[in-house]
Amino acid sequence: MTSPVVAPEILRFYSETINEADRLSSTAEGRLEMVRTQELLRRRLPPAPARILDVGGGPGTHARWLVEDGYTVHLVDPVPRHIEQAEQTGATTELGDARHLTAEDGSYDVVLMLGPLYHLTERSDRDRALAEARRVLRPHGLLAAAGINRYASLFEHTAFAHLHKEPIRRSIGGILASQIHDGKKAFTAAYFHSGEQLREEVATAGFDDAEILGIEGPAWALLAAAERNTGMSFHESGLFDSVLTAARMAEPYPELLASSSHLLATGHRP
Ligand SMILES: C[S@@+](CC[C@H](N)C(=O)[O-])C[C@H]1O[C@@H](n2cnc3c(N)ncnc32)[C@H](O)[C@@H]1O
Repeated sequence: MTSPVVAPEILRFYSETINEADRLSSTAEGRLEMVRTQELLRRRLPPAPARILDVGGGPGTHARWLVEDGYTVHLVDPVPRHIEQAEQTGATTELGDARHLTAEDGSYDVVLMLGPLYHLTERSDRDRALAEARRVLRPHGLLAAAGINRYASLFEHTAFAHLHKEPIRRSIGGILASQIHDGKKAFTAAYFHSGEQLREEVATAGFDDAEILGIEGPAWALLAAAERNTGMSFHESGLFDSVLTAARMAEPYPELLASSSHLLATGHRP
């Protein structure tokens, strides 16, 4: 099997265009993703100590608190800058690709894949990444994998009052229809899942109890709009608290999955 190659626009985006290390702390919207990802994972993780493989772990934003919680974390990411940043977190690190893991069969209690599935635009590549996650998990080990919601860019650009601009409208229409962003402008190459598609991909890859949760809930775009349109910080605000509460209240209602920005899939290796 040929070695996978990460698209150059993805490497460029994370090496030069944005600093992923402050994405989840510099805005209230990012903080919402962080708080919710943390609480959803903490509810499902086995008790520490356990071995976690953080695939596409970026600069180690999640690895840091997982290490502080007592887990042994090994982080894999294809971006050299992320690996350098992640070395400060207490996790061990490795430059690598979700489609070809060097870990041994059955060697981890948990695999996190919070990023790779939405940067792999071909189904065959996502299947390969999920097959690798399954291979390296021990029996009954936990997979937690993130997707970006098919409708997130529509909500985001509405909140930013961009839809009167024809090129943006065309680009969002293209994402809604094809579920793929080509990576030429704004964000990098990405695939946008519906909740049911993400559940199907995880179940087809051979995981039991595949379940999908909405990370940010139905009102994250309000927070993004307030912050972007006023230039004020909403990190500590009544609006932040309400949006967070709405995400928790929405959890039992699968119809509301379509409103979240990110989806979290969980499942267990049989
Ligand atoms: C938005 S960041 C998320 C980082 C972190 N997991 C988080 O949730 O905050 C997406 C990450 O996926 C990584 N990535 C992209 N393609 C990948 C691939 N084929 N294999 C592994 N990681 C990949 C990127 O380098 C980046 O670090």
